[in-house]
Amino acid sequence: MACSRVRPARVDEADELTQIAVRATTRDGYDDGAISRFMPALKVNLALIAAGLVFVAEDELGAARGYMALRPTGMGGLILLEGIFVDPACARSGFGTRLFATAIEHSRRMAGSVIMIFSNPHAVDFYSRLGATKIGMTPFVFSPDVQLSMFAFTIPAP
Ligand SMILES: CC(C)(COP(=O)(O)OP(=O)(O)OC[C@H]1O[C@@H](n2cnc3c(N)ncnc32)[C@H](O)[C@@H]1OP(=O)(O)O)[C@@H](O)C(=O)NCCC(=O)NCCS
Repeated sequence: MACSRVRPARVDEADELTQIAVRATTRDGYDDGAISRFMPALKVNLALIAAGLVFVAEDELGAARGYMALRPTGMGGLILLEGIFVDPACARSGFGTRLFATAIEHSRRMAGSVIMIFSNPHAVDFYSRLGATKIGMTPFVFSPDVQLSMFAFTIPAP
């Protein structure tokens, strides 16, 4: 299954997108208790959808298979990647890479120069492969037993 297009998310599909994030995280081996603790980070943010900062990756049939959310930080040029989540049924099919390409494109439009990423341990290879630089580690605010890797991605000139 390939990604056919990436488009802005709609408020009426928020629950569906949150379920994709839950499935993607469950696939990494987290149990129900961990998923409950992570929920504030998995639940798609309606305000970000309304602001046009959430994007959906569709398969060839037009079904939503992943999403990506951005948040401007207010610090010149620094954009926060709120998350990228891909339905496990479509893992390793390029959906994550397409969503990250959209993150770069949209960050540029917001005059972004660096994308800041807090990566769960299972996504470190994904962000490294995309060219992000690891700059540190920090406990996950919603579950401090999990150490997140902090990455910075420098947006190349168009
Ligand atoms: C991380 C995630 C977004 C990757 O999405 P994806 O659509 O599977 O990624 P892609 O197919 O674009 O992968 C691109 C490359 O990244 C690397 N990669 C992706 N997932 C990987 C994994 N689980 N282990 C090792 N490398 C991985 C590979 O080099 C891959 O290229 P390849 O398949 O040709 O070897 C997805 O697995 C996911 O939703 N994970 C759970 C949620 C999460 O951790 N999100 C990120 C933190 S917010």
